[in-house]
Amino acid sequence: MKAYSIPFHFHAQREGHTLKCNCALGVYDQRMPLSGRSVHPELKSLEKRIKGTLWIKVDSRKPQISMIRIAAGIIRKGGLVAFPTETVYGLGADALNSEAVAKIFVAKERPEDNPIIVHIADKKDLYRLAKNVPNEAKKLTAEFWPGPLTLILKRSNLVPHITVVGLDTIAVRMPNSKVALALIRESGTPIAAPSANRAGKPSPTTAQHVIDDLAGRIDVVLDGGPTKVGVESTVIDMTTPTPRVLRPGGTSFEELKKLLCKVRLHPAATAEKGARALKARAPGIKHRHYAPEAQLILIEGKLNKVVARVKELAAINMADGKKVGILATDETMSDYDADVLKSLGSRSNVATIARNLFRLLREFDMEEVDIIIAEGIPPKDLGLAVMNRLRRAANFNIVKAS
Ligand code: TXA
Ligand code: MG
Repeated sequence: MKAYSIPFHFHAQREGHTLKCNCALGVYDQRMPLSGRSVHPELKSLEKRIKGTLWIKVDSRKPQISMIRIAAGIIRKGGLVAFPTETVYGLGADALNSEAVAKIFVAKERPEDNPIIVHIADKKDLYRLAKNVPNEAKKLTAEFWPGPLTLILKRSNLVPHITVVGLDTIAVRMPNSKVALALIRESGTPIAAPSANRAGKPSPTTAQHVIDDLAGRIDVVLDGGPTKVGVESTVIDMTTPTPRVLRPGGTSFEELKKLLCKVRLHPAATAEKGARALKARAPGIKHRHYAPEAQLILIEGKLNKVVARVKELAAINMADGKKVGILATDETMSDYDADVLKSLGSRSNVATIARNLFRLLREFDMEEVDIIIAEGIPPKDLGLAVMNRLRRAANFNIVKAS
């Protein structure tokens, strides 16, 4: 098989120079028609190609090593592979290869001051990437890794500047996904991976979401089905005397409090205030995030008051001729009338709510609603991560119902 480059390029202006991303690595012959013979016998029924991006299905419980090796080969050659983790899909590149990491910024149109989490498959690798690892951090990895927890630590000199955007710290996590772990192991290198969405959009929880945002911009998406947790990992800064949660996520603050003597929530974690006002300790905080195309208004407060306010706002906007979407819960669905009505799940099951959140925000966009009116939920356990995402998706357009 002849290796050659995919004949499409795209460009991004970055600080006065043009960064050219030629995402392809030439493992597959681009001229082969989609319906044509597979270049790899194992891929026959499991591959398709969308705008040049290879879509490979993989069993999430027992990942086929042949599929993983194809993707790992692309990582090793400096290409981009989207892959499932337990939280959301990540867009992976070799964390030690600055040219490969640069392609992530271009493909996602990611602001260049936003550092990337480095994913490992073996806890020992933490000590190659980070230095001065405090005891409290060791306790966390013993309890929560592999899992949805990212630690910020002082970094070693192993990763290039672009991965950490010049910071003296590094974000590291060991994901709890067989596909992700196998990909990292087979690649033989730590994998830098932000969420595999276009910057500013809701994170992807299926391979289809990745394709919707990034087809033609990345080499491969490994499709391991919908992700389990649905919101991203919790990011905790271990470099301050009292560890601070910068982003709530799949590991709850309540769980962290049980293990750590001291731990705090950074104001950005609750996302109650406009983030621009906050000190940019977590550089990702200040950028617009999780935003559907439609305007989103979040209604918070006691449930009966919230329902009344959602109804009122929906009626006003429908009378205005707007296409209105309501993001409700099972308990309140029957109270509403809207152009598009969707439930996050039962209020008694916040894990389901977290799992559905990003998918539903994307579905409202597919239905081209003008406005989404969303109910808040109590900011406890995983509910804090859900509310952080909703408050930011609303761009802090929050109504307190009373
Ligand atoms: O669950 C997850 O964390 C997913 C999966 C793919 O692992 N990844 C993810 O990455 O959500 P991303 O890039 O979408 O979000 C990473 C967050 C950003 O807000 C970024 O600013 C922050 O982590 N971060 C990364 N390195 C950091 C550092 N050295 N100091 C402070 N914040 C950092
Ligand atoms: Mg992200």
